[in-house]
Amino acid sequence: MRWGRREAATAAAVALPRTAVELREVTHSYGDRTVLAGVSLTLKEPRIGVIGANGSGKSTFARLLNGLVVPTSGAVLVDGLDTRTRAREVRRRVGFVFQDPDAQIVHPTVAEDVAFGPANQGLPAEEIARRVDDVLARYGLAGHRDHPAHLLSGGQKQLLAIAGVLVMRPERIVFDEPTTLLDLANTRRVARVIDELEQDVVVVTHHLDLLAGFDRVLVFEDGRVAADGSPAETVPWYVTRTG
Ligand SMILES: Nc1ncnc2c1ncn2[C@@H]1O[C@H](COP(=O)(O)OP(=O)(O)OP(=O)(O)O)[C@@H](O)[C@H]1O
Ligand SMILES: [Mg+2]
Repeated sequence: MRWGRREAATAAAVALPRTAVELREVTHSYGDRTVLAGVSLTLKEPRIGVIGANGSGKSTFARLLNGLVVPTSGAVLVDGLDTRTRAREVRRRVGFVFQDPDAQIVHPTVAEDVAFGPANQGLPAEEIARRVDDVLARYGLAGHRDHPAHLLSGGQKQLLAIAGVLVMRPERIVFDEPTTLLDLANTRRVARVIDELEQDVVVVTHHLDLLAGFDRVLVFEDGRVAADGSPAETVPWYVTRTG
């Protein structure tokens, strides 16, 4: 079963329609080090990829989209909600899958870890159990439900982190390098998962072939968007520029 948009909307904190994520003249500095400078974008496309060199600002950009990081100047609006003042609602709308799954896994067993988010949303126990079973089966983790989460392999942890976000059914999901630790089969599995999602997604990745069917790709360079277009335009541009 695929999750319906209506169902996802019911789970959201507020009944604003899904419109766009807007960045207005966003600059971000860590101390006196500016890592994003003057980024203005409107993100509406269902599939957006983000590529660029190590340290170019991709993860910082990704974290701005759900309010994990707030801009030093400028503003980020998610369906009109300012991430600086409406952080709680924004986080319910935008799920975030971390680059490092250990940052996301907090509960002793696999099933408990996946149940944590929906329990936090105040869902009834029956609904939580149903969603947990569904998501564990979907990501090949059903056989591990009572295993200690910290003993999973790196790739299994990455799948668990993804399952833990999807189970909350946010309207958008930001993935920061979701396939870095995965073998070929699981990379394909995650690519397929992303492809089949009803939700809008933003995927930061160094795996350029993940982006083949995407609507839009942003190329970051030194904290700025150096290219913005279809994968057919931007990916070869990035490869040539890097080579
Ligand atoms: N919490 C932080 N404190 C200080 N500097 C930071 C912090 N997080 C990131 N930076 C710096 O900001 C810059 C951009 O980092 P970011 O993590 O956004 O890059 P990235 O494009 O995601 O890189 P990668 O491909 O290696 O994941 C880097 O120079 C990094 O050192
Ligand atoms: Mg990063």
